[in-house]
Amino acid sequence: MADFRLKEVPLENISKFLEVLESKLPDTVVPHQWIKIQKNWERHIPGLKVRIFTVNGDWRDGSAICLADGPVEGNKMIAAIYATEESQEALTNAAISTSLIDWKRIKIFYAVLERNIPMVREILTNKGCGDIEKRCFTFYLPSEKAVDYQLPQLPENVRVGPLGEQHLQILCDNWPIFDEEYTPYVLNTIKFNLTVGVFVKNSRGEEELASMVMHRESGEVGLLQTVPEHRRKGYAEIALAHIIKLIGQKGLMPFATVLVENKASRGLFEKMNFEVQGMSADIDVKE
Ligand SMILES: CC(C)(COP(=O)(O)OP(=O)(O)OC[C@H]1O[C@@H](n2cnc3c(N)ncnc32)[C@H](O)[C@@H]1OP(=O)(O)O)[C@@H](O)C(=O)NCCC(=O)NCCS
Repeated sequence: MADFRLKEVPLENISKFLEVLESKLPDTVVPHQWIKIQKNWERHIPGLKVRIFTVNGDWRDGSAICLADGPVEGNKMIAAIYATEESQEALTNAAISTSLIDWKRIKIFYAVLERNIPMVREILTNKGCGDIEKRCFTFYLPSEKAVDYQLPQLPENVRVGPLGEQHLQILCDNWPIFDEEYTPYVLNTIKFNLTVGVFVKNSRGEEELASMVMHRESGEVGLLQTVPEHRRKGYAEIALAHIIKLIGQKGLMPFATVLVENKASRGLFEKMNFEVQGMSADIDVKE
């Protein structure tokens, strides 16, 4: 039987590995942006360590398990996983036999491709972990369309600008699937990533944050929300258009995962001309 071992990709090969992922977009959009964002956070956050594991250290087809471990997450790690059809079995065997990963410390695998979901579940079951799977559609927009995205005309009382640390609470309070462990991620996203807020002047002339969106720790366009009293006024469309363009200007492909049952959000991404990459699942790991 072939010998499949998980090995860490050395630092000097990560840019070549990213080139492989880029050549396979949109299939690889999740690991591609996850690595870019987390490698940037690693530069800013002392002690944060990004680790990329492949079968026998071979990164040439893009199949990998990516982990970010460090002080952002307390004792937890966040993860992304990707395997081609041909490499799934080898990656599963290597993952099951490795002692390099403490699986119970993983909080979430973001936006796992539909074909890779059984692989992740098999690995977790073997490691004695449970999981909760949240089914989504993955939407994406090619970067060349993103960079040329037409921004909507702003109504007179509306301003668009980045979010600040003072918006942390409102971001967390309005997010339907928020749990406390996400607070440091949201804070670091405000500090290090692209964010967009739509600010509206009320009748007293004060600005209120009406809609918001972020380029999340996973690379997704996420935490998109409009506060209830400002819904159906076009503010999410304004927020999304601005973040799409900013991400496109970085040469990246905006993508988002939308829960299957979230009809409002699906309608929004379709209206904004996103394409469907396919089904995916956020997989929360449970001890
Ligand atoms: C989804 C959400 C962000 C939309 O915000 P919004 O500011 O009300 O959206 P907009 O007014 O900009 O709507 C733009 C388009 O989105 C779609 N849309 C928005 N709300 C919708 C709804 N309730 N039902 C169906 N389509 C909807 C429509 O296509 C709409 O265009 P239209 O008004 O011309 O029909 C908002 O409902 C929300 O915050 N929901 C809770 C959090 C959430 O689910 N976030 C998305 C996570 S992926």
